[in-house]
Amino acid sequence: MAVLFSSEADDPTAWVEALTCRLPGIEMRIWPEVGDVRDIEVALVWRCPPGDLRRYPNLRLICSLGAGVEHVLADSDLPPGVPVTKIVDPDLTAGMSEYVLAAALHYHRQFPIYAAFQRDGRWKKLRRPDTARRRIGLLGLGELGCDAGAKFVALGFPVAGWSRTPKSVPGIESFAGADGLHPFLARTDILICLLPLTAATRGIVNRETLAALPKGAYVINATAVAASRRHAGGILSAPVSGRDLD
Ligand SMILES: NC(=O)c1ccc[n+]([C@@H]2O[C@H](COP(=O)([O-])OP(=O)(O)OC[C@H]3O[C@@H](n4cnc5c(N)ncnc54)[C@H](OP(=O)(O)O)[C@@H]3O)[C@@H](O)[C@H]2O)c1
Repeated sequence: MAVLFSSEADDPTAWVEALTCRLPGIEMRIWPEVGDVRDIEVALVWRCPPGDLRRYPNLRLICSLGAGVEHVLADSDLPPGVPVTKIVDPDLTAGMSEYVLAAALHYHRQFPIYAAFQRDGRWKKLRRPDTARRRIGLLGLGELGCDAGAKFVALGFPVAGWSRTPKSVPGIESFAGADGLHPFLARTDILICLLPLTAATRGIVNRETLAALPKGAYVINATAVAASRRHAGGILSAPVSGRDLD
């Protein structure tokens, strides 16, 4: 059995060192030097060439070398029936939470208004917004949504999340499925998208979604499902659009 490593972005040496340290005897093959394709049973991949995974007749597992599997599923020529997994990295999760909290607090604490005051050379103090009344809504309540949600809860925000299936997460109100989307949007002042990009979620942040938000709501898109963005790889590098719907 051999493990294929195929990534245009990662340093194979570090991965091989780390894996052989934990799994002595593991045989790693670094793409494109794959040797006998029949040996490959596990593939560790990040944006590998489309169709390449079909070449390995004994492949049993495809593991994305990242937090998402969009780049794997974008390959229309995947071998059928092979499970696809991803990496859950607490450091990356914490970094994403830090990002969405920073973005949400930026709007919640009215930094754009203060920046405009500063540009105009004005000193003016605004009333502190009421955290308990600023409703955070997380599209996606998985690894990233739950972590960010818990941090918003700790700050005192009312938090809800929307997912495919209902969740029971302390302090977070759960909405699920198509029927749950509009009630979820209607109670959301800062909408944060942490959904994976799939056929079902592509374009979910659209005119109708935005119109269902309360007036003056903000949207932070931290993953890849904005209707207006198109790109080859399926993953945006954490763009944020703070959008005042006034
Ligand atoms: N831009 C970046 O830098 C960056 C960094 C890290 C991650 N990401 C992306 O963030 C995405 C989310 O990561 P994660 O670790 O939180 O994923 P996850 O643990 O798989 O959670 C995904 C969440 O989305 C929900 N969901 C999926 N499809 C849905 C649908 N059709 N309708 C409603 N809810 C749906 C899932 O609901 P159920 O649990 O009910 O299925 C789950 O709550 C990943 O796909 C990754 O690519 C981006």
